[in-house]
Amino acid sequence: MPLGIPPKYTVYGVIGFAVSFCGAIKYYSRGSKYKGKKNCLGKTFIVTGANSGIGRETAFNFAKEGGRVILACRDMEKCAAAKKEIINFTYNVQVICKKLDLASIKSIRQFAEEINKEETHVDVLVNNAGVMRCPETLTKDGIEMHLGVNHLGHFLLTNLLIEKLKGSVPSRVINVTCSAFVNGKINFKDLNSEDSYEEGVAYSQSKLALMLFTRELSKKLQGTGITVNAVHPGMSKTAIMRHTRLYNSKISSFFFWPIHFFVFKSVDRAAQTVLFAALDPSLQDVSGKYFSDCEEKEISENALNDEDAKRLWLTSEKWTRLT
Ligand SMILES: NC(=O)c1ccc[n+]([C@@H]2O[C@H](COP(=O)([O-])OP(=O)(O)OC[C@H]3O[C@@H](n4cnc5c(N)ncnc54)[C@H](OP(=O)(O)O)[C@@H]3O)[C@@H](O)[C@H]2O)c1
Repeated sequence: MPLGIPPKYTVYGVIGFAVSFCGAIKYYSRGSKYKGKKNCLGKTFIVTGANSGIGRETAFNFAKEGGRVILACRDMEKCAAAKKEIINFTYNVQVICKKLDLASIKSIRQFAEEINKEETHVDVLVNNAGVMRCPETLTKDGIEMHLGVNHLGHFLLTNLLIEKLKGSVPSRVINVTCSAFVNGKINFKDLNSEDSYEEGVAYSQSKLALMLFTRELSKKLQGTGITVNAVHPGMSKTAIMRHTRLYNSKISSFFFWPIHFFVFKSVDRAAQTVLFAALDPSLQDVSGKYFSDCEEKEISENALNDEDAKRLWLTSEKWTRLT
């Protein structure tokens, strides 16, 4: 040993470095925690896809802070289980289950009609539900599933609730997108992916569509007191991955566990930016923005394309039979 360091200390040094390095990655990737005010008392929140993952965690936090929370889910058994769990932990009985299948225009219209009739106000709408990399499937109205659920379902829902949101100002719409929109492209020539279908491409397109919708809607609502923002929650191992090998195969899970452990956030941390966008008082007049890790992030060029946003809006109106 030229430096005269005994081999066992070299080994300890290497182990110490590796542990610190992994610890640093884990610490950095766990994501931020929203530490601002969480004033939910007297407010009504709607969370789509609230029976699992980030949606359930978000709904749980609203309920914990005393909000009235409407769990908007397609599967009423799963919805009832989530409701029970949330009430058991929060002692807040103002947690309500409502049927909403975003893959059905009829179901969305029925849900909106009930909300408009039964609720006196809606303060925050969290468009959280989503599908990722599912096999080629169509919604009940013949729309490619990613586009139909992630974008068009929420497009129609938000528009049908707009008068209620106007009557509840200051109110907020939060669209839960995914950073994958950066690689997305709106393929107007084959928007419904009929000529060719690739799961990843369809997912990115749908999340880019949600980004364009966020900005276009925020422009249309300027000065009304309703804000519209988009949030990337960060990577978290939830049921959204049900169609991926990483989720289903034991072999992949075994080899990729370091990615899960070191890079993915807990569901609690993934919900933090949604809570920030929904509750932070500093964002009362902030609209048309994109947040990740509890801070505003720059929007990529493809999501800043106003021409695409306008064209997509008109197409979305037609496809959802809004007008
Ligand atoms: N987890 C991540 O790494 C990650 C990263 C970036 C963005 N996101 C986004 O975060 C959001 C929440 O995802 P998650 O990770 O919490 O996944 P999740 O646990 O699978 O939650 C998705 C929710 O959407 C619901 N949903 C799916 N199709 C629906 C439909 N047709 N109508 C109504 N609800 C429907 C699901 O209901 P069922 O339980 O009945 O299927 C579920 O409640 C998604 O928009 C996702 O794209 C997640």
